Amino acid sequence: MENKAVYPGFFDPITNGHVDIILRGQRIFDKIIVAVLKNPKKRPLFSTKERVAMIQKIFAPQSDIEVKAFDGLLVEFAKRNKANIVIRGLRAVSDFEYEFQMSLMNRKLNSEIETLYMMPSFRYSFLSSGLVKEVFGLGGSVKDLVPEIVEKNLREKLKKGKYFYTN
Ligand code: PNS
Repeated sequence: MENKAVYPGFFDPITNGHVDIILRGQRIFDKIIVAVLKNPKKRPLFSTKERVAMIQKIFAPQSDIEVKAFDGLLVEFAKRNKANIVIRGLRAVSDFEYEFQMSLMNRKLNSEIETLYMMPSFRYSFLSSGLVKEVFGLGGSVKDLVPEIVEKNLREKLKKGKYFYTN
């Protein structure tokens, strides 16, 4: 049987911190489904289609990485996709409380699904999609923090006057 995991998030946009976690997961699992939340509470800068397309491009030649949009409960999505592991990245102590709540709630909803936490490389431990959007919007460089396709798409949003970010 295939050893499968789900890596969920908003990915608005995907950062090198997320990529780092996916690469670490790739060493453990036969397949990783990157699950992109369709309707986050906050209005995203990138549409679901754009967020999915960027991740697909980054991992294009790799058949063990699949990218899917989802809404509804994460545990239901995992079950539908026959995965019983959810991967999450843990950056700093500040992530802990939210992650603790989420993993226990998910366990309450489906006790067969386990959450596995991994630390990204130290050089990404301060990184978030929100900070990337803020820094880029204020004219700072996000090189080395996001994949090239993301930087290109951020530039395009700015050029088209469609750039915004919320904290
Ligand atoms: O990128 P994020 O904000 O860390 O991702 C959060 C995400 C998408 C993993 C979380 O909001 C989620 O799983 N949403 C789906 C709805 C759900 O299952 N809620 C109950 C989880 S406790």
